Amino acid sequence: MTALPTKIETLAIHGGSPVREKFLPYGRQSLDEQDVQAVVEVLRSDWLTTGPKVDEFEEQFATWVGAKHAVSFSSGTAALHGAAFAAGVGRGNEAITTPMTFCATANCVLYLEAKPVFADVSPDTLNLEPREVTKKLSSRTKAIIAVDYAGHPADLSPLNALAKQHGLALIEDACHALGAEYGGKRVGGIADMTVFSFHPVKHLTTGEGGMVTTNNTTLAETLRRFRNHGISSEARQRQQAGQWFYEMTLLGFNYRLTDFACALGISQLRKLDENLARRRTIAALYTRAFRELPGVVAPAVRDDVNPAWHLYPIRLKLEALSANRGEIFRALRAENIGVNVHYIPVHTHPYYRERFGYRGGEFPVAEDAYERLISLPMFHGMTDGDVEDVITAVSKVCEAYSR
Ligand SMILES: Cc1ncc(COP(=O)(O)O)c(C=O)c1O
Repeated sequence: MTALPTKIETLAIHGGSPVREKFLPYGRQSLDEQDVQAVVEVLRSDWLTTGPKVDEFEEQFATWVGAKHAVSFSSGTAALHGAAFAAGVGRGNEAITTPMTFCATANCVLYLEAKPVFADVSPDTLNLEPREVTKKLSSRTKAIIAVDYAGHPADLSPLNALAKQHGLALIEDACHALGAEYGGKRVGGIADMTVFSFHPVKHLTTGEGGMVTTNNTTLAETLRRFRNHGISSEARQRQQAGQWFYEMTLLGFNYRLTDFACALGISQLRKLDENLARRRTIAALYTRAFRELPGVVAPAVRDDVNPAWHLYPIRLKLEALSANRGEIFRALRAENIGVNVHYIPVHTHPYYRERFGYRGGEFPVAEDAYERLISLPMFHGMTDGDVEDVITAVSKVCEAYSR
C-alpha cells in the first residue's frame, strides 16, 4: 500500500507562508578580510594596472589549471573575443557553437565579422553535440566554440579530434567550469584555448575579469597583444628596460585586468579548492533529494567527468505537472528562493532572429530544454540550512502542482 500523501501546504504565491523569510539569491560572491586587504595593499602600491600582480595571478592560475600560459582579460567576454581572434576567426568565416549559452559566446564571433553557426546540444548534458557539429562544418569553418554548460565539461575528446581532423581551433568556453575535470584532468589545458570568467557569481571573482589558458606559446603571444591594443610590449617592460619604443602589430583593444583585480584573484585562488568542494557537496545534496521527486530531473553527469557546478539546472517533467515553467518559477520566487533560467537559446533572441532569420524549431533539443529549465541557487557560501530550504521549496511547489 502506498503512503497517504502528506498535507499539501498553501503556496506562498497563493497566500501561504514562504519557506524562508529572507530571499536567497541564485548566486553570489564570498569575500573575506584577506581579499579586502589584498586589494587595499595594491591600491597603496605603485602599480594599479600592468604591474606585478598581473603576472603573479596569471602564473598561479596557469599552474592551478595545468596549462602552460594564462592571459588575463577585463572580462570573460573580452577573453572570448581574444580567443576567437587568436583562432583566426574573421571576416567571412564561421565558428560553430552552441545555442545553450550566454549570448557572449556567440557574440565574440560577430565582433570579428564572422558568422556564428549553431549546432544542437546533447539531450543529457545540454553541451554541444559532436555529431551535430560535424553536420555544420564547411570550408569557412575556423573554430569550434564549446561551452561547459553549468560546469559540466563539453565532450572534449571528440571535439578535439574533429578540430584536429579539419584544421580548426577548439575554444572551450569554461566560464562555468573553473575546476571541472575531464578524463581526470582539470579543464584549462585540454582544448587549444580555454576561457574563464571572474564575474561575482563564478567560482573565483575579480569583480569583472576573465582569462584564456593555452599550451600554445604563439597563441599566448597573440592574446597578450590583443588585450593591449595590439602592442608588442607592456608599459612595465618598457620602464624596466629603460626604453620608449614599441610597435603596434595588430588591431587590439584595451582589455587589461587591473592589478587590484588580479590581487583579488590571487587571494580568491587560495580558497578555490575549498569552494569547489562545497559546490560539489551542495550538488550531491540536491541530487540525492531530487532523485525521488516526481516532476524534476536532476542534471546528468557523464562518466569520467567531475563538474564544477557553477549552476544547478533542474529540468521539469512537465508531463507530471499541472503548471508550466513560468508558473513554477514564480511560485519558487514567492517562497523566497532566487531561481533563474539558463539559457534562453541564443538564436531565439530578437537580434539573432532579425539578423539571421531564425524562427524557432531549428535546434529542438536546446529549445525543448529551455521550456523546462530552472536554475536553483548554487554558490559556495550557501549554508546547509539554505540548501534544505531550496529542497523544501522545490518539493512543496512540485507537490502542489503534481498531476
Ligand atoms: C558561458 C558564458 N560565457 C561567457 C560569459 C561572459 O563572461 P563575463 O560576464 O565575464 O563577460 C558568461 C557570463 O556569465 C557565460 O556564462
